[in-house]
Amino acid sequence: MCGIVGYVGHRPALDVVISGLRRLEYRGYDSAGVALAIDGELWTEKRAGKLANLEAAVAEAAPPPPPATTGIGHTRWATHGGPTDRNAHPHVSSDGAVAIIHNGIIENFAELREELAREGIELLSETDTEVAAHLVALELPRCAGDLAEAMRRVCRRLNGAFTLVAVDASRPDVVVGARRNSPLVVGVGEGESFLASDVAAFIEFTRDAIELGQDQVVEVRREGVEVTDFDGNPAEVTPFTVDWDASAAEKGGYDLFMLKEIAEQPKAVADTLRGRIERDGTLRLDDMRITPAELREIDKIVVVACGTAYHAGMVAKYAIEHWTRIPVECELASEFRYRDPIIHPRTLVIAISQSGETMDTLMALRYAREQGARVLAICNTVGSTIPRESDAVLYTYAGPEIAVASTKAFLTQIVAAYLVGLYLAQVRGNKFGDEVRQILDELEEMPAKVDLVLDTVEGVRKIARELADSPSVLFIGRHVGYPVALEGALKLKELAYMHAEGFAAGELKHGPIALIEEGMPVVVIVPSPRGRSVLHDKIVSNVQEVRARGARTIVVAEEGDESVVPYADHIVRVPPCPTLMQPLVSTVPLQVFACEMATAKGHDVDQPRNLAKSVTVE
Ligand code: F6R
Repeated sequence: MCGIVGYVGHRPALDVVISGLRRLEYRGYDSAGVALAIDGELWTEKRAGKLANLEAAVAEAAPPPPPATTGIGHTRWATHGGPTDRNAHPHVSSDGAVAIIHNGIIENFAELREELAREGIELLSETDTEVAAHLVALELPRCAGDLAEAMRRVCRRLNGAFTLVAVDASRPDVVVGARRNSPLVVGVGEGESFLASDVAAFIEFTRDAIELGQDQVVEVRREGVEVTDFDGNPAEVTPFTVDWDASAAEKGGYDLFMLKEIAEQPKAVADTLRGRIERDGTLRLDDMRITPAELREIDKIVVVACGTAYHAGMVAKYAIEHWTRIPVECELASEFRYRDPIIHPRTLVIAISQSGETMDTLMALRYAREQGARVLAICNTVGSTIPRESDAVLYTYAGPEIAVASTKAFLTQIVAAYLVGLYLAQVRGNKFGDEVRQILDELEEMPAKVDLVLDTVEGVRKIARELADSPSVLFIGRHVGYPVALEGALKLKELAYMHAEGFAAGELKHGPIALIEEGMPVVVIVPSPRGRSVLHDKIVSNVQEVRARGARTIVVAEEGDESVVPYADHIVRVPPCPTLMQPLVSTVPLQVFACEMATAKGHDVDQPRNLAKSVTVE
């Protein structure tokens, strides 16, 4: 939440900062602002609303922006104070010396604000951030104008989660950043340096980046970067190279990032499998820093995640329990640590997160590690906090996901979790090598099957347009189809802003069936008729039950499954695949359905209201 950019170098800072903000706008779009430092002065502009409002204001600004080569910029997801011009970042100290931007929440801001009031400093905004700007400015003269030292002194006094980035009018050759529990990465270019919430902001200029650790302050200049802890001791940092380029974060000819990301799913699934399966079917998980001996001791698995990632975890539970016979619990990360969970050193906690920065998931994994559990992260973002704080990591290779609604991350999270399950089955001897090989073969067929689904989604678009005025849509499924139903409903809520709910199909008769009224759309995820046909037969009965009560059924069923045809008002076909693989194909039409419905309603699909990608507050 909130996108942060800092730049010092040889290019026009305004252009670099605005282009960085454009790439980070998915992190928050309540307001945007920039500050440029040049010749002992700060020039700032900020506006409520999307980045386009700021760009228009900059274009008309009087005086016009100066030709600075140092600047900072911010896109906001509002926490303290509404989304107004006044609350937009950057915030400038009362003496005009320091401009600061912030992501996170400063929990002790009320007490700091009172302290500032006693010094005669009146705050102009309702934000927690503004206190940091005044405090840094007050510290500057006490530490001979050393901005990094002033930042360290202030950070030692702050509680909560924060990334702060500041410029000082009198030192326009320096930008200083600090982080605690919020993301900040450094980009290292030729004669230029960048600070940003994520690498997308500077990827068009450099792919060389540095991960910052917890409680670190970084001073960036044209010629280099210096990192310390909050006490000023030199800190170790981890350099890394970004393995995708700027084109991966562009729309690439699609109207929407979401459409592009839906279309990228076959490749994302293939990339997540690539290089991990040996010719003889043995799995090699390179970043699995938990030894086979330790994995053999595991007697319980707990998956922690939020939103879509939580649904991926629910799917994984079915597979991992089935393959390993280890009990798996799947927990909402935001609830986990508050219910005194039973965790011990033989518990493996799997933290699933696309961004690697979700605060609820981060706090859950920290809690689990405090209890002695081993934590494995499934993550899409190299250099992010969750993999850095985990014992092991399995990266999903989905590439950058820019649309706020998660799509390709979901499929790759399922694939990565399946690899973990199969690896456990392999090292613990729960399955023979040829059984693991057979499941891996099935997984390797999935990119082509997802591709087939993508070829047939036109019909789904048509159905979505027809149903766009429905007040409510229900989704039902059984087994792995249940989390798919939840995911379909989540997509519809967040994009089409309509009432949508997912249910385990067997639960309908225990209450929710009362919701059904004439014409209500009910999307049914039908499992394969082969194999577990009991499951199939049960859901065919459920379709009949809702239809008998007036529902308009949209049935997602395997190619060739004719048994559902008499009860389907609309039928969406997916290629045949084993039950555990079905979420990888049956989720895709639901993503398209939500995207098309939102488009039909005229909503901003990539940036739905009230939301932001990478939720870095609890
Ligand atoms: C829904 C969505 C969210 C995220 C959730 C977790 O489309 O994107 O529900 O899945 O906020 O985010 P990560 O995976 O970054 O931890």
